[in-house]
Amino acid sequence: MSIAGIILCAGKSTRMKSARSKVLHSVCGKPLCHWVIEKALQVCDGPIVVVVGFQADEVQKNIEGRFGARILFAQQKEQKGTADAVFTGLGALPDFHGTLLVMYGDTPALDVEKLSELCKNQHKSNCKVALLTTQHFFAADSGYGRIVRQKDGSIAKIVEEIDASEEEKKINEVNVGVYAFDADFLRQIPLKLKPSNKKNELYLTDAIALAKTHAPVVSIEIPYHESIGVNDRSDLARIEYCLYQQIVERWMLAGVTFSDSAHICVEAEVRLGQDILLEPGVQLRGKTLIANNVTIGTGSILRDTIVEEGAVIHPYSICENAHIGRNAQVGPFARLRPNSILEENAKIGNFVETKNTRFRKGSKANHLAYIGDAEVGEASNVGAGTITCNYDGFGKHKTILGDRVFIGSNSTLVAPLTIGNGAYVAAGSTVTKDVADNTLAIGRGRQENKAGYASRLRDRLKKRKETDC
Ligand code: UD1
Ligand code: CA
Repeated sequence: MSIAGIILCAGKSTRMKSARSKVLHSVCGKPLCHWVIEKALQVCDGPIVVVVGFQADEVQKNIEGRFGARILFAQQKEQKGTADAVFTGLGALPDFHGTLLVMYGDTPALDVEKLSELCKNQHKSNCKVALLTTQHFFAADSGYGRIVRQKDGSIAKIVEEIDASEEEKKINEVNVGVYAFDADFLRQIPLKLKPSNKKNELYLTDAIALAKTHAPVVSIEIPYHESIGVNDRSDLARIEYCLYQQIVERWMLAGVTFSDSAHICVEAEVRLGQDILLEPGVQLRGKTLIANNVTIGTGSILRDTIVEEGAVIHPYSICENAHIGRNAQVGPFARLRPNSILEENAKIGNFVETKNTRFRKGSKANHLAYIGDAEVGEASNVGAGTITCNYDGFGKHKTILGDRVFIGSNSTLVAPLTIGNGAYVAAGSTVTKDVADNTLAIGRGRQENKAGYASRLRDRLKKRKETDC
């Protein structure tokens, strides 16, 4: 059995009140339309066409960036309604005969099994269309099309809310907007559909009454939370809440402890191992990957970051595009900016910022430092208050520290700079010249102690105060 797909993403997104197409709005870290396309890819063995229109270039580029050449595109020049959009999509499938799965790009929570079942039912029963419905107990003003059934229970038509009679508006069974069509039937009907409705659009839903004249329309009822379509930002919030809950549930069953699941956010593309503890307020975003036995402390935010086994991220640490090695420790209050790499047992402590820097095995910066564009060798120690001066206003320069280097507190390392293995930088130094292996560098004003001077100074200042009075 051959199944092709058409996904509608051309609409103007009027109700979103946004300059961006609604299908590009993010739900749990992934654009709305990606959710739908990923599901279509699991169900369809044939071609999949995405119909673009409003902001066509942005939408197409975004989809191509994620799915490559597997997806075809058709451009709907004017947004004349969902039926017009589907006919546009069909234009890209001239030779396809079989089951055509039609989905709207704004309905992300659908269940793949049900989509497969829908297509199979259409094929088996040889009807012209099979569709998904749901019971919406607060259907009034929901904007969903109502499923109008005949006395024998079979589907007569779908009526859009805006065109429905008061009686029809009371129907709770609504149209989800997912259909398995016989492609050849759809090809025959364009001339039979008319924009005779309040929106003056060509409704795909009008195809149902036409299909019924050939064979009874088949339907599958799904739970409401799977059916939510996003038209405005309140729908967006509702669906995101549902999907976050599903993600949390999945990871809990896979061995992750959420110490306050209502206030932890794990985006859709994140992957987690076992025996991970996520404390309240943790946010795991993008393509973050966390191995077994990792603890992520309260309020920490990780984006596109890899954390290896046994590492601990203490509270309120922010990591972006970083790699945290086995048993390494980060935070509290650390900031790992892009391309920060911590090898095994490395340690980045409180108020330390790193960027484009590798800390090799067991090296540390425990407090208050900025280490950027640097390499820190094995078992080296960077003292509190150390700053790599990596930027001269024009370009970035590298600081390279060897193994077992000790950088005393409050040192300023002016890049480009290389400090050799086993070298020692005295606290408070400004280091501008390379330091050879096992060498001590001191770059600061020399201290002088004047015996008795403090007492003499005090007497002088006291006398001056008395004469002033
Ligand atoms: C649609 C259904 C409604 C159903 C609801 C479920 C129609 C006429 N109505 O209403 O019965 O209950 O979905 O969520 O189909 N689009 C285009 N080109 C257009 C118009 C729309 O590509 O010319 C795309 C939109 O980008 C969107 C999808 O089609 O992804 C659905 O359009 P939308 O305006 O959201 O339809 P609803 O009013 O939600
Ligand atoms: Ca919609």
